[in-house]
Amino acid sequence: MGNSEYTDFGIEEVLPDEKRKRVNDLFDSVATNYDLMNDLMSFGIHKLWKRYAVHIAKIKMGDQVLDVAGGTGDMARQFSRRSGKTGQVYICDVSFEMLQMGRNRLFDTGDFQNVEMIQGDAEHLPFKDNMFDLVCISFGLRNVTDKDQALRSMYSKLKYGGQLLILEFSEVSLDMLKPVYQSYSDRYIPILGRYIAHDESSYRYLVESIRRHPNQETLKQMIEQVGFDRVDYFNMIGGVVAVHIAYKL
Ligand SMILES: C[S@@+](CC[C@H](N)C(=O)[O-])C[C@H]1O[C@@H](n2cnc3c(N)ncnc32)[C@H](O)[C@@H]1O
Repeated sequence: MGNSEYTDFGIEEVLPDEKRKRVNDLFDSVATNYDLMNDLMSFGIHKLWKRYAVHIAKIKMGDQVLDVAGGTGDMARQFSRRSGKTGQVYICDVSFEMLQMGRNRLFDTGDFQNVEMIQGDAEHLPFKDNMFDLVCISFGLRNVTDKDQALRSMYSKLKYGGQLLILEFSEVSLDMLKPVYQSYSDRYIPILGRYIAHDESSYRYLVESIRRHPNQETLKQMIEQVGFDRVDYFNMIGGVVAVHIAYKL
C-alpha cells in the first residue's frame, strides 16, 4: 500500500490496531498446539536455542526477571530455576490463552513458586521503572506492532546495569542454507500447520513475520537507538536464529 500509517501482518498491510488484534487472536487460537508445533517445526532444536540464550543471560539467585511475550513459559521456567526462591520471574503476554497453557505447564513441572503471569502489551509494559535485572523477549519481538516502542518500554523497566536478551528468527547468512531454509519455510511449516494445528493461515503468517523481521544488524541499531549499551549478537545455525544482548548502563 506504501502508506506509512499501515504496518505488515504477514504479507498483508493493515492498520496498527488491526495488527495488534490479529496477533492476539492468532496466539489465542494456536495456544493449544503451540508447544507441539514448536517441537515439530524446529525438530526440537528450539529448546537448545533457548538453553543457549539462558546460558548467556547472566542470572543470579535473587534476580528479578521479566519474560516479555513469554507465552507458555519455556524461558520463564529456566529463569525461575536460576533466580531461585529469592528471585522473582514475571511472564507478560497479550494472549490470555498462551498464559493459560503456560500456567498449566508451570504447575506440571513445579516451577510456579516464583513465577507470576500478567496479561499485558510489550509496547506498554505494566511494571514499575528500573525494576528488573533481566528483560527477555524470545520469539516475540517480530509479532509486536511498534518494535521501537517495545524496546523503549523494556529499557525503562530494566535497572541500571540490567541486561536485555532478545532471541528471534533472523537473516540466514550461509548461502548453502538459504534454498533449503526457504523451501522448509514455504512448504514444511504450512503443511504442519494444516495437518497438525488445522490452521494453515496462522503458520503462513509466522513464516512471513520471520521474513519481515529486521535482520541482525538492523535490530542491533534499533536497540542502540533506544539507548542500550554494549549491544552484541550471536548467530545460531547460520543466522536462522540470533540472540541479541545489550545493557542499560
Ligand atoms: C512465538 S510466541 C513465543 C512464546 C515464548 N516466548 C517462546 O519463546 O516460546 C510469541 C508470543 O508473543 C506474544 N505477543 C505477541 N505480541 C505481543 C505483544 N505486543 N505484547 C506481549 N506479548 C505479545 C504472543 O501472544 C505469543 O505468546
